[in-house]
Amino acid sequence: MSYFERMKIKYENLRHKENVIVLAIESSCDETSIAVVKNGREVLSNIVSSQIPIHERFGGVVPEVASRNHITAISNVFNEAIKKANITIEDIDAVAVTIGVGLIGALFVGVNFAKGLAYQLDVPLIAVNHIAGHLASNYIAYPSLEPPFVCLVISGGHTSLFMINDYCDWTLIGQTMDDAVGECFDKVAREVGLGYPGGPKVEKMAKEGHSNIEFRKQNSFKHSYNFSFSGIKTAVINYIHNKRQSGEEINVADVCCSFQNLVTKELVSKSIRLCEEKQTKKLVLAGGVSANRFIANNMIEVGAKYNIEVYVPPIELCTDNASMIGSQAYYNLLAGKGLCDLDIVPTTVINYTNI
Ligand code: KG4
Ligand code: ZN
Repeated sequence: MSYFERMKIKYENLRHKENVIVLAIESSCDETSIAVVKNGREVLSNIVSSQIPIHERFGGVVPEVASRNHITAISNVFNEAIKKANITIEDIDAVAVTIGVGLIGALFVGVNFAKGLAYQLDVPLIAVNHIAGHLASNYIAYPSLEPPFVCLVISGGHTSLFMINDYCDWTLIGQTMDDAVGECFDKVAREVGLGYPGGPKVEKMAKEGHSNIEFRKQNSFKHSYNFSFSGIKTAVINYIHNKRQSGEEINVADVCCSFQNLVTKELVSKSIRLCEEKQTKKLVLAGGVSANRFIANNMIEVGAKYNIEVYVPPIELCTDNASMIGSQAYYNLLAGKGLCDLDIVPTTVINYTNI
């Protein structure tokens, strides 16, 4: 019997096993992470080796450098994850891995490691969509959270509003038509000289400033659930260039504060409006930008006025980590989804119908 034929049987049996231990791997961008997760909600270990200091001097993530550093880091991260979880490799019931979206070379490192491990241990290999993983970080943070709910995914590559009908049943309602919100934070940070990674630096700087600059932009998606951030980004860049040209001083803190305020209003108003339309009282935030406590707190405050409970993961679970992949993998397993053969390759194209 081939590996895959054996795994189909094992996978089916696992779906009925009382305790399922998943070893999960995440390498889609600049974090090499491996976690051990029990029954989708209990994190036994979650090791994250960040490459931020390596990419800082380039002002952003360099894909080839990221791939090479994943290769260097992954074995140590694996050993540490096993040790911290206090398990042996024989305890692993399945291996899960981020299959996309992300940097293709970076994804390959995690996927190839996962294949080798799954084959060696003779356990099923489960593919997980990175965005679904981000959302699942909330299942870890809030043990009683269950679908249905509205979810806003805000990351370096995505700004999307979903109706989450079930763990593996999503409806995409709206998304950015141009830049992702995280990308916009990063570009504004670079323009005002704050460097990489931009998001946290803009948030910190905004605390010192006032929201007193009105950036002129077109509001082309006012009545839909789609977003546009390139207009906001351009408005900020134009403002800075005009000031520089006329030799006027730029108050970086005010720029950051006004920019962050504008972005927050867009995100909050559309998310709350969707909850109202769908008559759901649960709104879940996910993705790196939800680490921004100004955005999160605003969402919580406005949500409270509408009796909507807002769920935001703790900062360490907002950014890329493997425990979120291990959590979603469990729900893929329960839904009978995501089982892969050893010829699986990573993807940079997202497919929401097969979360
Ligand atoms: O989810 P993530 O770790 O990686 C992707 O899947 O894209 O998100 C990274 C993005 C970056 O653009 C980073 O600047 C942004 O999340 N980010 C933040 C904050 N922390 C991270 N943006 C705004 N405020 C923050 N505190
Ligand atoms: Zn991410």
